[in-house]
Amino acid sequence: MSNENTQTDFQQIISHCKEYGFIFPSSEIYDGLSAVYDYAPYGIELKNNLQQYWWKAMTQLHENIVGLDAAIFMHPKTWKASGHVDAFMDPLIDNKDSKKRYRADVLIEDAMAKIEDKIDKEVDKAARKFGETFDKEMFLKTNPNVLRNKEKVNAIEARFKKALEDNNLEELKQIIVDLEIACEVSGSKNWTEVRQFNLMFSTEVGSLADDSSTIYLRPETAQGIFVNFLNVQKTSRKKIPFGIAQIGKAFRNEIVARQFIFRTREFEQMEMQFFVRPGTEMEWYAQWKEARMKWHRTLGFAETSLKFFDHLKLAHYANAAVDIQFNFPFGFKEIEGIHSRTDFDLTQHQNMSGKKLQYFDPETNESYVPYVVETSVGLNRTFLALICNGFKNEKLEDGSERTVLALPAFLAPIKIAVFPLMKKDGLPEKAREIFDDLKWDHKCFYEEKDAIGKRYRRMDAIGTPFCITVDHQTLEDNTVTLRDRDTMQQERVSLEQLKAVVAEKVDWRKGLR
Ligand code: GAP
Repeated sequence: MSNENTQTDFQQIISHCKEYGFIFPSSEIYDGLSAVYDYAPYGIELKNNLQQYWWKAMTQLHENIVGLDAAIFMHPKTWKASGHVDAFMDPLIDNKDSKKRYRADVLIEDAMAKIEDKIDKEVDKAARKFGETFDKEMFLKTNPNVLRNKEKVNAIEARFKKALEDNNLEELKQIIVDLEIACEVSGSKNWTEVRQFNLMFSTEVGSLADDSSTIYLRPETAQGIFVNFLNVQKTSRKKIPFGIAQIGKAFRNEIVARQFIFRTREFEQMEMQFFVRPGTEMEWYAQWKEARMKWHRTLGFAETSLKFFDHLKLAHYANAAVDIQFNFPFGFKEIEGIHSRTDFDLTQHQNMSGKKLQYFDPETNESYVPYVVETSVGLNRTFLALICNGFKNEKLEDGSERTVLALPAFLAPIKIAVFPLMKKDGLPEKAREIFDDLKWDHKCFYEEKDAIGKRYRRMDAIGTPFCITVDHQTLEDNTVTLRDRDTMQQERVSLEQLKAVVAEKVDWRKGLR
């Protein structure tokens, strides 16, 4: 077999997700709702497995991290204290001709990415031309086209960073004008002024009009952790440093919701707030940065598919912040943020509520508001990264093609498919017996319809790592064939061995040890 990948594009991945039961557009019979999606039968299995994997990595492997599930609705003062009412804004700009709305910062970032792309293409071209003698370092330092483009990006980045820091909306608009950015719909450069837009959704609570008050759908899960900090610390009797982990929905009225499930208005975060002694936060920040990158690598992403990206502009609560970015088909984009949030949130809640949120440190005999290092990963974005990473169109040696979703075995929606080779001679009965035994330990799938090759292909397309086939030999010597999704090789294993072999292959612990 040759594992030559044919070119895949993002549209193909989106279609695959729908066709094979991973993701459906929401309320599709009413033509869908923009940027809202439902997780289909295989999608929900993959999403559940991924969140379980994160949960175990956080709360089971760290004895100093405990879990929490706080409500989505919180007292409105929470969001005043956290700064979200006043500062959780995106800069918005409209094209006057198409009326299409954009995020001004995203327009500029995309323009910079295009120039970076030119540099990468220049490097690829030279690497092909010079072959083994190619010295990339030297080329980057000396090629005039690369140097010119690098200088351009650096200059834009410096202006952009300063405009964000100064909250200078006129300058953001000016950068868009200077870069001659055009609307993708109208093609025109006829822009409105840039203005700020709060991302929080609000609604009313209470049955009587005069009783009701405005509440928000949480834009991050973190605040549920901050307001519960002392409750959790006292009831779980944790000493600093310790962490609180939570998985849950968050909502943001994104101006530009796009790229499938990458940026949606309703999404899930997996967050962990790590409470530390003031002054030690940068050490913990460095440790969590490495730990989180290591976790992402266990998902089967290549070294080159992940990178750190330091924030150009720090959020209102942070004194250091970095993203872990994944190389999606549309470029490197954030999947996780790691932030040193200082004592900002706890102090703000302490001031707003009038309740002390301090920790008495028995080692130093002092009371203080702890500092916080946060790791915040998007469940949906990591799901998308897994699908993009695993999706392959392969040309096989016999000339045929197959689509395969090379998901890590421990995350695959279905772990094992059990097939009788034929629908006769007692093979289905034997296969059912094996299925009924395995299903207690793993999510399994049984099928007897269609030729075996077709059944294998369907399992490849949803990422099932192993298929077991029951044939006539099984009835004689209690062995089955175990087919590996990636190599397509088959080995014969005895039924006694089967459980141990399969359990070893789908073990979630392998990557984390
Ligand atoms: N508590 C910190 C926080 O919320 P963030 O960087 O704004 O930080 C963390 O968000 C993660 O949440 C992001 O890295 C991303 O994976 C995910 N996320 C944020 N906005 C999202 C959106 N509109 N759609 C999908 N995922 C989103």
